[in-house]
Amino acid sequence: MHYSHEGLKLDKKVIELYQRAGKIAQEAMKFGLQLLKPKAKLIDICERIEKKIRDNGGLPAFPVNISINNVAAHYTSPINDTNVLRRGMLVKLDIGVHVNGYIADMARSTVVGNDKKYRDLIKASQAGLAAAEEVLRDGVSVNQVGKAIEKAIKSFGYTPVKDLTGHSLERYQLHAGISVPNVDGGTIFSPKLREGMAVAIEPFATTGTHGTVYNGPKAYIFSLTNKADRFPQQKEFIYELKKRFNGLPFASRWIRWLKPKKVESILNVLAAGKAVYKYHVLYDHDGGLVSQHENTYIITKNGFIKTTET
Ligand code: CO
Repeated sequence: MHYSHEGLKLDKKVIELYQRAGKIAQEAMKFGLQLLKPKAKLIDICERIEKKIRDNGGLPAFPVNISINNVAAHYTSPINDTNVLRRGMLVKLDIGVHVNGYIADMARSTVVGNDKKYRDLIKASQAGLAAAEEVLRDGVSVNQVGKAIEKAIKSFGYTPVKDLTGHSLERYQLHAGISVPNVDGGTIFSPKLREGMAVAIEPFATTGTHGTVYNGPKAYIFSLTNKADRFPQQKEFIYELKKRFNGLPFASRWIRWLKPKKVESILNVLAAGKAVYKYHVLYDHDGGLVSQHENTYIITKNGFIKTTET
């Protein structure tokens, strides 16, 4: 229905790379979801999924996010993470894959031990994404997408998380400038999605009332900014980060060539000088439980190509 080759403004080869990344992301997700069992260690889940991505010919576009209950986003295991899953936890698994810089970004929510208690909350974010798909095509404004998501989530009695958004994608750019809100932004400037754009859409639904999040004290995911040149004394370290991650987000536990204490101190110095951006673990403002559903799309004249669900 939504698939259209005609007049597509993206190179066929580029679309193929997006689709290859999407396939690898889907396989990693399928693999990851069956690892979500009581007593499973979070660090094992993250690392096994990341290995799966590499084994299948992709690279992680960001560290595997495994955000639980009222943690809305951006949790990945730190080095030596001892946390384990327990029955009844609401888990959001958010996986990013790239092939030659072309990114697939997808997320699913589930309950450990197949508990039915958050079924409607999970359905709400899923319905938000389905509603977005109904309006997604060349020329749609991001507010129209947000409006559709908001309506769907509210129809389940939950609150869309307005602080978190979908995002346009470009080669080696996880956030390429356009945000896709999970609510109707009203009269604010609302760019249009255009044919050939790649975009990740990710509705979050919460049992909280505000739909806002706050930064926790910890960050385990980082990315280099364009101010890294301010630190000539860290030239070699920064060079390594650029070479390995190409500006994409990375986990502190991925830096294995230095001792953990050293990694922490260098990243803190660089973050203080704004040469490194810290993705703080994000918490729901009201302590609400949060579900998330995400896919990656390439916009076409009459709809889209979905790369992460085929
Ligand atoms: Co995303």
